[in-house]
Amino acid sequence: MQVIRSVSEMQRWSSAEQGAGRSIGFVPTMGALHSGHGRLFSQSVTDNQRTVVSIFVNSLQFNNASDLEAYPRQIEQDQVIAERENIDVLFVPQHEEMYPEGFSSIISTGSIAEHMEGLHRPGHFDGVATIVVKLLNAVQPRIAYFGQKDFQQVAVIRQVVRDLNIDCSIESVPTVRNHLGLALSSRNARLSPEHLAEASSIYIHLQELVELSRHTDTTSDSLKATFVSRIQESTSGVVEYIEVIDTKTLLSTSPVTAGCTICVAVWFGDVRLIDNVSV
Ligand code: PAJ
Repeated sequence: MQVIRSVSEMQRWSSAEQGAGRSIGFVPTMGALHSGHGRLFSQSVTDNQRTVVSIFVNSLQFNNASDLEAYPRQIEQDQVIAERENIDVLFVPQHEEMYPEGFSSIISTGSIAEHMEGLHRPGHFDGVATIVVKLLNAVQPRIAYFGQKDFQQVAVIRQVVRDLNIDCSIESVPTVRNHLGLALSSRNARLSPEHLAEASSIYIHLQELVELSRHTDTTSDSLKATFVSRIQESTSGVVEYIEVIDTKTLLSTSPVTAGCTICVAVWFGDVRLIDNVSV
């Protein structure tokens, strides 16, 4: 596995591979790699002749300075994991090159990014969109892979790629969970043992909502209220939001229709976790 640290070297490598007729798959990450990322890697390795993984903790998408500071960083361990996953190139751009002094062009993501994560993390998706476009320009992949765990993120990226005529397919990959159902996340490493045990209730109660939604008289409001009270009754978690949305438009729906998605954000201590299920 090759480690590339500069944009120009990344672009040279990519042009050479494409010139030789080899397809490139790309998985952008912020590191602290786990089996959720691994699922994206193996999908890319299966679909493409070459796979590039990037690791870059993108300051522009953190609306909270302490969250950025506390974000886990473990580059040596990540390098071992990427090697084991048969990645061809680990792209580790440097902050100074991605955001040099004078950097000022930020993508404005618009209405798709205004609710849920976008509402609670102002500027987050503009930061995500900006770094993803910069990374796509560096790697120039045929396909880029994103996890369904970050449901709104995938929708925002699809919109940006379409709006800006970027020649790259966006694939979304199902969420990987631990044996209790908790969605794997780099942030799980910051949960206390008690919160880690409690956090699996997110998925348990999301599944309960899927069951409840099978009854014809179920409304979004009743599903939301059930989730909030279940989390309150059984854990110390605090629900930041729960939304029942149309999977395509991402707009709130009521009554609950087949094919909608339920998205939540829940705090355990100072760790914020997100998850979603489709109905
Ligand atoms: P990060 O949180 O490192 O996630 C990188 C990719 O892995 C994202 O597409 C995310 O949805 C996916 N992922 C994370 N946990 C997963 C799980 N349990 N199952 C399946 N996929 C999972 O998301 C980001 O980084 C950043 O916003 C990024 C896109 C890299 C831009 O900075």
